[in-house]
Amino acid sequence: MLEGYAPGYAQDALSMMNTRTASDRAAFAQPLFSPDSRVLDLGCGQGSITKTLAPSCHVIGVDIHRPLLPTTSTVDYVNATAYALPFKTASIDVVFSHALFEHLTNPAAALAEIRRVLRPGGHLAISTSDWSRAKIRPRTANVDAALRGHYLLRRHHGGDPFSGRTIATKLAAAGFTNITERTRYREDLTYRALATYVESRLAAALAQQPLTKDHDQLTSAARSAWSWTKSPAIGDFHQCWQELTATR
Ligand SMILES: C[S@@+](CC[C@H](N)C(=O)[O-])C[C@H]1O[C@@H](n2cnc3c(N)ncnc32)[C@H](O)[C@@H]1O
Repeated sequence: MLEGYAPGYAQDALSMMNTRTASDRAAFAQPLFSPDSRVLDLGCGQGSITKTLAPSCHVIGVDIHRPLLPTTSTVDYVNATAYALPFKTASIDVVFSHALFEHLTNPAAALAEIRRVLRPGGHLAISTSDWSRAKIRPRTANVDAALRGHYLLRRHHGGDPFSGRTIATKLAAAGFTNITERTRYREDLTYRALATYVESRLAAALAQQPLTKDHDQLTSAARSAWSWTKSPAIGDFHQCWQELTATR
């Protein structure tokens, strides 16, 4: 397995993240914030959600990739991994996390670490994607083959492209209670932009990675993705986001 963050930090991935706002992505978490709460945004990226996540709270953005973190901001940013948070036990009121869990090799270990830093009665709010329920139309043979390669690549990096399907069970297994769950669909990219995104990740992976047992499948998926980018088809892409809240 190739440990690491599958989407990488190329400009198209960063631009997609930068369009996200708290008013959209964190609306489900708003009832959890009280004035002066200490709040973590785990896997905060460039902070486009973090900066307006909870204006009356002390918000701290946490990300494993230091170059992403804003250096001038009213929000605090900390370079750390979700598996070893540099915060005292029971010192945090709310942990929020958007689009991180689908990339984690060991979600159970991250949830245990979140439980450690949350105070008893503290809250967790997670939004994670589920590619198995994404609406992608039309689904030609090339689209299907390209997506299979995309999922394979995500798994190579230790992630789970269908994370939203099982995240509630993982929260319960970690000991969280009062779990609420709902599904939202969003047009994260156009159908054509999705084709380009998938194709470029497959091409980059094949250029960079050593041969693996899945090399042939990835090569064939990259060819299909390239055909998808060239096809005249007009289509739709709506990503499936599973939004959960829970109590420590
Ligand atoms: C898809 S981005 C999401 C960024 C932001 N939350 C958003 O929704 O736009 C995932 C982020 O998680 C970070 N990340 C990946 N693995 C991590 C880990 N183990 N601990 C902390 N952050 C991690 C990546 O560096 C990346 O910035």
